[in-house]
Amino acid sequence: MVGAGLVDRLGEYARKFLHRERCAIISDGNVAPLLAKRVIQSLASADFRTMLITIPAGEKSKTLKQAGAICDQMITAGLDRQSFVVALGGGVVGDISGFVAAIYHRGIPHVQIPTTLLAMVDSSIGGKTGVNTRDGKNLIGAIHHPSLVIDDVDVLKTLPRREFNQGFAEIIKHAIIADAKMFRMLQGWRAIEAVALQQLIKRNIKIKSNIVAKDERDQTGERALLNFGHTVGHAIERAGNYRRFLHGEALSLGIVAACAISIKRVGLALHQRNAILDLLRQFGLPTRLPKKFRRGKVFDALKFDKKFEGGKVRFVVTPRIGGAQVATNVTLADIRAAIEDL
Ligand SMILES: NC(=O)c1ccc[n+]([C@@H]2O[C@H](COP(=O)([O-])OP(=O)(O)OC[C@H]3O[C@@H](n4cnc5c(N)ncnc54)[C@H](O)[C@@H]3O)[C@@H](O)[C@H]2O)c1
Ligand SMILES: [Zn+2]
Repeated sequence: MVGAGLVDRLGEYARKFLHRERCAIISDGNVAPLLAKRVIQSLASADFRTMLITIPAGEKSKTLKQAGAICDQMITAGLDRQSFVVALGGGVVGDISGFVAAIYHRGIPHVQIPTTLLAMVDSSIGGKTGVNTRDGKNLIGAIHHPSLVIDDVDVLKTLPRREFNQGFAEIIKHAIIADAKMFRMLQGWRAIEAVALQQLIKRNIKIKSNIVAKDERDQTGERALLNFGHTVGHAIERAGNYRRFLHGEALSLGIVAACAISIKRVGLALHQRNAILDLLRQFGLPTRLPKKFRRGKVFDALKFDKKFEGGKVRFVVTPRIGGAQVATNVTLADIRAAIEDL
């Protein structure tokens, strides 16, 4: 559900979709003080019994240890197979709480209340849940679709500007791979207006869910299209120790690299590549790596990417805005050159 003021109606919606009594609300140290009280009240008004579990904000909380600690607290509180989990936060909370929901008593329902733009248009859809390990991101996880997702655009008002902008990296990615019309609409995007934002979120949910529905388990290559820009993007995130760049910022740079490779391998027109870079900049996203940032570090980080399984490069390219395909003729040398040019 996408709208304004939905947080206060959560209880009502949850009653409609879940015939259960108890739930654990999982949130982080930034979001809980802003929204947990309203969420608890709304659920209580519909006769749900709740417990709140708050984890420290940030990617470093997305661990197996933290997931275990959450499960322990739920067990101690007596939550059983008939309970459910509510995620109240960004993608970090969504991913770890979804993983907890997937494994707790072998699986209980998950309700998502995404509170970042990125989580609304991307991580809350598609059922991918999981945690990071010492060696890489999202290496342990499960597919566990949420039973209900509530996108309340009002909660985005407290989101820091940089966090807001990074959500647009995924939106621009969706436009490049699947929706040329949305790309043009974004070019004309001015003030952030609530109604337009709701429509934009809905459209992005549709794009992602259409792709996921065709290939839920990453088997036909369709879902891989969502990885556009992510091969180099993930490497940049890792090379910056997950501190220097936000995911969306690293993705923005990864999109620039993917455009360079697309020009070379599938004939993306230069003017389209330039339009993509202009659009990224329009939303305050980076299109160049800082001068002193070591390019070699990015290249070294590539091998941790799941897409390099078996030594083969599966690289997503765009021949024109609005379409994408997995190329098999992209070489490591192509990727190295694109990174050096960033
Ligand atoms: N499952 C998927 O398909 C999928 C897809 C994309 C990304 N992800 C994952 O999502 C995570 C990134 O998500 P994210 O960008 O939402 O990060 P995040 O959850 O860390 O949130 C970003 C920051 O904003 C704060 N915040 C959240 N909502 C707020 C609000 N309304 N007001 C003020 N502050 C708020 C958070 O506390 C945090 O500090 C990564 O772990 C990534 O792997 C998963
Ligand atoms: Zn992403």
